[in-house]
Amino acid sequence: MWRADVITIFPEMFPGPLGASLAGKARANGIWDLAATDLRDFATDRHRSVDDTPAGGGPGMVLRADVLARAIDAIAPEHDPRPRLLTSPRGKPLTQARVRELAAGPGVVIVCGRFEGVDERVIAGRNLEEVSIGDYVLSGGELAALVLIDACVRLLPGVMGKEASGAEESFSDGLLEYPHYTRPQLFEGRDIPPVLVSGDHGRVAAWRRAEAERITRERRPDLWAKFREADLTRMADAQ
Ligand code: ADE
Repeated sequence: MWRADVITIFPEMFPGPLGASLAGKARANGIWDLAATDLRDFATDRHRSVDDTPAGGGPGMVLRADVLARAIDAIAPEHDPRPRLLTSPRGKPLTQARVRELAAGPGVVIVCGRFEGVDERVIAGRNLEEVSIGDYVLSGGELAALVLIDACVRLLPGVMGKEASGAEESFSDGLLEYPHYTRPQLFEGRDIPPVLVSGDHGRVAAWRRAEAERITRERRPDLWAKFREADLTRMADAQ
């Protein structure tokens, strides 16, 4: 069973949305499991404090290395093979490629970042991999942990239907999704593109491909450049 352990000062945020829908059903079916551990359980003072003021001064609070290390050692001892992640806006951006690797492994241990940061010595000493889910700042790492787990869980065998499972829509071939339509044929004066109701599967495929390329080019010049480069390599390999 794929297992996610989360270390957080807000354990009540879990499973949250992962208790519903596809992920919730898969968890009820024993495909994966999630446990949230309260970091405060590893504090030793009577106020159960987990943070302190930053060395060198400045605003905000820093998660204490000793408290967090105790929690990590209890939840994921040295022999635990799972990668230890730390959600943080300064982490390496999460990609579908990394999600695929994580989903293919035994699970994850996620430390939710909080306050201004985490004492650097526990990041180094416990080999924490810092991961960001995008270039914006959340009020804490909990939502990022939920996002990361959701992205992994949907790839686990038996979670999704046949169609969507293997392929990952966007990103599998490096292009964003083409536009979709369903009935009614006419909606508020807008028709379904005639090619899609032509019954010509070859023309439908060509139209979808062209639209996927257009949308990728317009919205994501970064992905488009990567795709073009991969395309050149594919063509060279085919020679
Ligand atoms: N914590 C705060 N912002 C974050 C982000 N963008 N990604 C991951 N963790 C975060």
